[in-house]
Formats: sequence, C-alpha cells, structure tokens
Amino acid sequence: MSSGARLLDVARVRGLFPGLSDGLLHADGPGGALVPESVVRAVSQAMRVPIANRGGVFASSARAEQLVSGARSAIADLVGAAPAGVVLGPNMTSLTYAVARALAKHWRRGDELVVSRLDHDANVRPWLQVAEEVGMVVKWAEVDIETGELPDWQYDELLTDRTRLVAVTAASNAIGTCPHVSAITMRAHRAGALVFVDASHAAPHMLLDVTALDVDFLALSAYKWGGPHVGAVVAHPGLLEELRPDKLLPAPDRVPDRFELGTPPFELYAGIAASVDHLAALCPEAEGTRRERLVASMGVVTRYEAELFDWLDDALRSMAHVQVLGSPEYRTPTLSFTVSRMRPRQVARELARRGVCAWDGDFYSRELFDAIGVNETGGAVRLGLMHYNTPEEVGHLIDHVSSLR
Ligand SMILES: Cc1ncc(COP(=O)(O)O)c(C=O)c1O
Repeated sequence: MSSGARLLDVARVRGLFPGLSDGLLHADGPGGALVPESVVRAVSQAMRVPIANRGGVFASSARAEQLVSGARSAIADLVGAAPAGVVLGPNMTSLTYAVARALAKHWRRGDELVVSRLDHDANVRPWLQVAEEVGMVVKWAEVDIETGELPDWQYDELLTDRTRLVAVTAASNAIGTCPHVSAITMRAHRAGALVFVDASHAAPHMLLDVTALDVDFLALSAYKWGGPHVGAVVAHPGLLEELRPDKLLPAPDRVPDRFELGTPPFELYAGIAASVDHLAALCPEAEGTRRERLVASMGVVTRYEAELFDWLDDALRSMAHVQVLGSPEYRTPTLSFTVSRMRPRQVARELARRGVCAWDGDFYSRELFDAIGVNETGGAVRLGLMHYNTPEEVGHLIDHVSSLR
C-alpha cells in the first residue's frame, strides 16, 4: 500500500465506529454509512439537556438555536459555503421536491429542464413531475453504457435559452461515475440555466467546494457520511431569497428558515456537527479551521479509498464470471457487478452468508439500470468502500466474489 494507506490510520479509525463490533464486512456504505461513536454521543447528549423550540428568550430555546446554527456551520464547512445558504430537512428527496416546487412557481409552459440518465431517482422524478405539472419540455443527458460516463459535451446540444434548470449528480451511487460537474455548470450558466447537483453519494468520498463547482444548489444527505438521517440543500442565500416555498404563515420568512417546515430534529442536528467534526479529524496532523482540516482529511480519504478500490475493481474485472458495470475514469470507490448464471439477490444472499453486507437491486438508479438493461434480471450487486474499510476486507471481498460460481 502506498501514500493513502500510510496517511490514514485505519485501525484508529475503526475504533471510532461501534457498529463494526458486529464483525461483518460492511461494503454497503453507499446505502448509508456506519455512525461514529462521537455522533451517537452528540445526539444522546443533546437529548439529556432541555431543548425547547426556537425563538424563545430562555436558555433551552437558546440551546435549540445553537444546535441549528451548529449544523448549518458544519454543512457549510463541508462544502465551502455560507451557513446562511444551508437549508436543512428530513432527507435529500424531500428537499429536492421542496426546491423543485418553489422553482416551478417561476417556470412556464414550454420552458425546458435537463435531467440525466446517471442520477438517483431523487434527482430525476421531482423534476419530471413538476415539469409535467407546468407543461415543460424534459431533455435527457445520456450515459455511455460501455464506459458509464456522462459526457459533458452533450449539454451543448441539450441546452437552449428556454432551459431553466440542469439536474445532475456529482457521483453515481450505483456505478461511481463522477461527471465533470463544473464543465456542465459552465455550459448551463452560459445558457442562463440553474444547476441542481446531487452530492449525496459524492460527499463521503471527496472534498466538495460549491464555489469551485459553481453550482446553484447542492443536495446532501448526512447518513451517507456517518451523520444522522438529515438532508441539506446548499445554495447562495441571494438565490434562496428569490424563492417562495409553501410555508406556514407564522413561521419565519427569513432565509434559509423559510424552507424548513415545522419543528426540526434538534438532537440530530447535534449529530450533524459531530459527523463533520469526525471527517475533519480523519487526518489528525491537520491544523487550522474546520474547513482547512476537511481539505486535508478528505484528500487523504480520497487517496486511501481509491487505492483500495483500484485493487478491488481490477480483481473483479479479471474474473470470467463477473461483469462490472461501466469503467468511468473519475469515480468514487463504488461499483456494481453481475455474476453469470446468478441473480443479484442470490449473489447478495451468498455474500451475506459469508458475512458481507452488500446491496442488490437498482439502488434507485432506475433510469441508468434500465438503459444498461439489467433491471429485468434484478439489477446488480453493489460494493462500496468507506474510510473504515481495510485492505484485509478488500482481500476478503475479492476471495468471496471469486468463489461465487
Ligand atoms: C446519490 C443519491 N441521491 C439521493 C439519495 C436520496 O437521499 P435521501 O435518502 O436522503 O432522500 C440517495 C440515497 O440513496 C443517493 O444515494
């Protein structure tokens, strides 16, 4: 093992995850990561002290306010944004529907949307459904089925002066492809369209920077990186000011609060801050602000995971009975594969019998798997690595998949 493995002390990291004591091999990170003890503790400590609702003049209300601003600051640090542009909500899917509905109030019949065949359905269906209600034209960015890439040049053809929004993923949760988001954004902005990027799968694996990506909306889901079940959409506060989501009359009208319905899960917000602190501490030598430490630690995570993943990917591709879907150039440590003469569910069961947690199905990447043509046979099996996976585990994964015949 080279640089990444030396930089990340995975034995120390594994000690931070109580869930690893189950002795299983967790290759199911893309469906939801294991949770560090620090997050568990932050949530339970928040529930041990009185927390009232927001807006009061007494101590337990001030505590609620601190938890909200702590979560917003943490997400802002994670993606290099301003806390005032961080909208929190139950999950990525609900927030995407909320943003789609708010934007649709400005859209007219004949306006256009561009969605991608690579995306999780949460960044497809909400847009298709508002487009249908408004009478908009929907255009599809297609995936090269052989490589699993989403070529950015096709957006030149897809965009017109009627395009209102481009929805695209920062990374496929099914096959790991990382499209060239800033190249897509540049084209979209030239056409006057907004860009909504789903970074739910990307966030645990790379440093995100909304300024460098130049996206208008970035959607996240904290349980993908070891946080609690809370979603976020990050946007420029000025852009949020222009939108009028449906909300209750007495609820705050300021941004970003106007997008957040009802009473939030304050205790989970404590877990959000702890989960970002966890990521920032993965490189203990790193110093400076939390954002600066995230820059260092996410760089280490990316390199560590890529080394493990390349080994896994190469080994699976060399097996005659295994077909790995796509071979994108830039990717997260996530792959999907099929096994000759075995249904994905059967493969997942065999892996589970050997102590491996791995998902089978379409992982809500329904459009992609329809295009590849694997949905009629039960989709594929997915293996995804996280910063708590080890070289030994990758060796076991390779042996287990190899023995499936
Ligand atoms: C890439 C991607 N986008 C969106 C989602 C939906 O996230 P949530 O469960 O927070 O709605 C998921 C969850 O599987 C995902 O992997």
